[in-house]
Amino acid sequence: MRHILSSKQFSRKDLEYLMSEARKMDEVLKKGGSRMFDEKIMATLFYEPSTRTRLSFESAMHRLGGKVISETDVTFSSQSKWEILADTIRIVSGYSDIIAIRSKNTGDALLASEYSHVPIINAGDGAGEHPTQSLLDLYTITKEFPQIFTDSPLKITFIWDLRYGRTVHSLSLLLRNFPHVTLSFIAPENLNLPEEYRQSNDIFSDTLSLEVLSESDVIYMTRVQKERFPNIETYDAVKNAFIFDTDTVKMMKKTAILMHPLPRVNEISLDVDSLPQARYFAQAQNGVPMRMALIKYCLEG
Ligand code: NCD
Repeated sequence: MRHILSSKQFSRKDLEYLMSEARKMDEVLKKGGSRMFDEKIMATLFYEPSTRTRLSFESAMHRLGGKVISETDVTFSSQSKWEILADTIRIVSGYSDIIAIRSKNTGDALLASEYSHVPIINAGDGAGEHPTQSLLDLYTITKEFPQIFTDSPLKITFIWDLRYGRTVHSLSLLLRNFPHVTLSFIAPENLNLPEEYRQSNDIFSDTLSLEVLSESDVIYMTRVQKERFPNIETYDAVKNAFIFDTDTVKMMKKTAILMHPLPRVNEISLDVDSLPQARYFAQAQNGVPMRMALIKYCLEG
């Protein structure tokens, strides 16, 4: 059975395959969708807030002709009656053909996969990983820079909450499959990338230099994950550390792109949206074809 639990599970060959599958799904979408999985049911269990991830999974399933059952508020879930996750998964996997789960605890998706009769997709496990977001992020990058597959050099810079930002953890893991990509990580010291995701040739800094800003091909901005901070004082100390406005973005290369998994708080000002480098809305849109490709990958696996 094919689960999607961590970006670590994908080889370069898998990524090439999944990106080409997402391109095919973009074509399917242009024709209005397909009936490929009209007998299948997806369960979405979301025990943390979500807009894009849950709705793009559900949209993807509907576009493939499938159906969706959903649990989105822990107060209405048996989890609020202290049901353990293992029991919930045993039951829900009897009601559905595939489960996408988001939860507060790192490792929950892996745990779910041990009790499930159907494929589990990790839609974000606390401050751990968010592999499907990183796949749509990679899809966005490959659309813009197809030369990543021919091992041309590319500079990608991650900014801000790299400690709790699970999308950064997962995307950095995927990018390890492309040795010509140079990664820079810019964050206040207490928010930098956890040791387990680092490699010796990475660049780390607590300030964004003009050199990095003007030479990056991709800047991947993130939100400070306030909800994961131990206290409000630590959050207040960093909450305005990096703000991208039009002046900042004008110093980026003309061909560079500015990405963000969204939601944004104050880290990208609204007037940046109309600049040619802004790619975050197109990035979110890529969630649908990419998740269609992932549903197919799991259901046919
Ligand atoms: C991200 C997440 O949930 O980790 N959002 C998303 O899925 N697009 C990023 C965030 O919440 O900051």
